[in-house]
Amino acid sequence: MAAHTDPIPFDAAFAQDLHARYAELREAGPVHRLVNESGLPVWVVTRYDEARALLADPRLGKDAQTIFRLVMDRFAPGAERPEADDGRFAGAGFDLHMLNMDPPDHTRLRKLVVKAFTARRIEDLRPRIEEITEELLSAMAHQDEVDFLDAFAFPLPIRVICELLGVDESRRDDFRRWTNRLLDDIDTEASVRAAGEMAQYLTELLATKRAHPGDDLLTALIEVSEDEDRLSEAELISMVFLLLVAGHETTVNLIGNGVLALLTHPEQFARLRADPDLVDAAVEEMLRFDGPLMHSTFRFTTEPITIGGTDIPAGEFVWASLAAADHDSRRFPDGDAFDITRDTRGHLAFGHGIHFCLGAPLARMEAQVALRGLLAHFPGLELATAPEDLTRRNSSLIHGLRSLPV
Ligand code: HEM
Repeated sequence: MAAHTDPIPFDAAFAQDLHARYAELREAGPVHRLVNESGLPVWVVTRYDEARALLADPRLGKDAQTIFRLVMDRFAPGAERPEADDGRFAGAGFDLHMLNMDPPDHTRLRKLVVKAFTARRIEDLRPRIEEITEELLSAMAHQDEVDFLDAFAFPLPIRVICELLGVDESRRDDFRRWTNRLLDDIDTEASVRAAGEMAQYLTELLATKRAHPGDDLLTALIEVSEDEDRLSEAELISMVFLLLVAGHETTVNLIGNGVLALLTHPEQFARLRADPDLVDAAVEEMLRFDGPLMHSTFRFTTEPITIGGTDIPAGEFVWASLAAADHDSRRFPDGDAFDITRDTRGHLAFGHGIHFCLGAPLARMEAQVALRGLLAHFPGLELATAPEDLTRRNSSLIHGLRSLPV
């Protein structure tokens, strides 16, 4: 089938009505050429089989240097480019992370972080996650109405990730502000300033951890990098930046979108109350049904490829639409229905292939603990507004609510 070549703006209205808009695209064809909010053309893959194949296709690259070059070629051909001494483009200071890299660099960095980010370290966090959950939910009990995002979904993941990395309590609010700016106002002055402040703080934090090693992931990362002498300072800062940003807003919105799904599907909520053993399955269905990422991060074609019958030239940007693929009824029967007992295996909310989410076990644990806590504390939780009055954030990547009054 021919691709959609008319530009369709990927804007706030699209985010508000994501699954319906994606359903139209998915049924019209597996591959579409849209423009993103900056006017950049992107090939968007909307069906499950094609999206999954794309995520694991080695002919697609993620290297940030090539991405900068392609963007510059498009918007400012012939313009002078900011280059660092080593000939690389000078970025914000933390783009040297594995989500921006192809093998062999990706393989090297991922191996190192896997050594520090062990299953054991994550399991050790469970009691703290339970404690923080209890604390936040107990505080909610004194109010008739709260914004669930402010009261719970935001503070939980940021406290967990700060705890994991060993970030000072007093800087948590700064982290929330920085990551918000970075994800919502991409390329604006505010986001550049946020990036600068964050880079400075991370540099100081690394120096502190070097001087006073702790029992935290950051110290462990410093140790593996020094042992093997294979992680530069810039790579280390970029890695911490990636863990913070990737691990924060995603989990917030998994919890936010997931709770909204329960509250708007009372029969599913009742089922879960009746059988709390369904919590783990419910979290998987929340990921599939309304996961926090609309689509994968940028990939570009390193050579001409054909996806779903559409020829895409080399040097073009491609997104796998995770939200569209996970609602594809060819793979998940009655894909638009929220059903906590369905078989969710193979959903793409955490991606697929070599960049499969490193934090998936942590995110799952947080959401499961949160949901168990919620069932115990507030089995009668209700929305305090009409569902149609809820608005979505205007972010081109994160799919989340602005607020969730309950
Ligand atoms: C990568 C989703 C939570 C760390 C990814 C990717 C997705 C994803 C889709 C792949 C992106 C692509 O291929 O373009 C999610 C979701 C989360 C979540 C839905 C929560 C519900 C976390 C947490 C952490 C984390 C808690 C860490 C603490 C990472 C890292 C990568 C990644 C480091 C890059 C892996 C690589 O390039 O090899 N995540 N994530 N994520 N995620 Fe997550």
